[in-house]
Amino acid sequence: MTNTLTEAVDFISEIAVTMEQNYLCTDLENHWMPFTDNKSFKQEPRLLVRGEGIYVWNDKGERLIDGSSGLFSVPCGHCRPEIAAAVHKQLLELDYSSPFLRGHPKSFELANRLAAMTPEPLNHIFYGNSGSEAVDTAMKIVMAYNYARGQSQKNIFVSRERAYHGVNIGGTSLGGIVKNREAFTSVLPGVTYMRSTATPDRKFIKGQPAEGGEELANDLLHIVQMYGENRIAACFVEPIAGSTGVLVPPKGYLERLREICDQYDILLVFDEVITGFGRTGSAFAAQEFDVTPDIITMAKAMTNAAQPMSGVAVHDRIYDAVVNGSETDMIEFFHGYTYSGHPAACAASLATLDIYEKENLFQRARDLSGYFLESLFGLQEHPLIADIRGYGMLAAIELLADERPGRRGHDFQKRLFDAGVHIKTTGDAALIAPPFIIEKSEIDDMSGIIREVLDSYL
Ligand SMILES: Cc1ncc(COP(=O)(O)O)c(C=O)c1O
Repeated sequence: MTNTLTEAVDFISEIAVTMEQNYLCTDLENHWMPFTDNKSFKQEPRLLVRGEGIYVWNDKGERLIDGSSGLFSVPCGHCRPEIAAAVHKQLLELDYSSPFLRGHPKSFELANRLAAMTPEPLNHIFYGNSGSEAVDTAMKIVMAYNYARGQSQKNIFVSRERAYHGVNIGGTSLGGIVKNREAFTSVLPGVTYMRSTATPDRKFIKGQPAEGGEELANDLLHIVQMYGENRIAACFVEPIAGSTGVLVPPKGYLERLREICDQYDILLVFDEVITGFGRTGSAFAAQEFDVTPDIITMAKAMTNAAQPMSGVAVHDRIYDAVVNGSETDMIEFFHGYTYSGHPAACAASLATLDIYEKENLFQRARDLSGYFLESLFGLQEHPLIADIRGYGMLAAIELLADERPGRRGHDFQKRLFDAGVHIKTTGDAALIAPPFIIEKSEIDDMSGIIREVLDSYL
């Protein structure tokens, strides 16, 4: 039944999309999908064909709540006309210009805007196209900085168990997830790992655990003592480990890492690919936790995911050592991508930052966080739940594993999809991070569907 002309048009275009998609469904073989069980997906595809606000639609015309903002990337909601218009306009004006030895105004305008959002003195922005590229770029900036000041013996990188820093060789080497490493036997040497901040005794904690931060951070001190005071180049951490299940650091943890880094001239890098752009309630987790790193990586919500883009925000002293410390008329940093600072991505990002500002979305994320977490913690007594944790608009519910860890989580995301919620799972944890524009009633709807799906296992 349709009531208005607009609804009728919507209805017809939905049918057209469905028909077209069903036709396309007949040949899914050629696309080798990332981080996907290709064989089962192609037998039972779950295709999305449209998005608007907090919702996406599948190829059968069914509406789903996007409970993970895609992959933590769409805080403003899907298909924002302002972003689409900015990209469209840019592509008709200047679709591309070489980022090497040439520039276009928007990349500089964007860098100024980003530098104003990152903590002082992280004022220089290097562009990439993905979080993985941002991480590998950050590693190369660390190396270039140490080379420029005659400290290349500082070549040990410190990361963490259960870390996720993307999939390029640098990020894979820093990664602390077994499955993401075990087939890739030639990653970088010279990376060592602290313990994860997740400890089995802490369950059902909203926000930061109160205890144990310093003790865990002292792992970095032990590494310094093991390799020598002058060998550690950088310590990479996600302020909240996102992809491995929203592991919120205990109070004092990030602060203690900062202290040790200062003491031993180690660069502290916050990988804010998930936590950046308001997810914690502040622009960056660095501000939320009041700890200033030397480098911040960002991506995803930088363009509301409407264009691929990432950035690395760098402390003035690092930029000065590498750039101002080099000869004039010579390239200072032999690194960059064909699409670094792509005009369409810059246009998308500028339009996204405008939306964040105009709609005060970071504050909205902060204001909604209590309701959001409360709603999920309402599932705490469910017999299938092993843990719930979260901070800001980022949370995880961990299911009790069956005899094969990860199997139930994988099945859970399929059942949720079929029941009307898209949520990313990692192992047995469901990672919940809705767009900041979500309404309280929609949070209730989402939690209600999650509960129904949990009940379907009983
Ligand atoms: C903390 C962190 N770093 C890096 C990445 C990699 O980003 P991308 O998938 O855009 O390469 C991710 C992706 O989720 C991430 O969460």
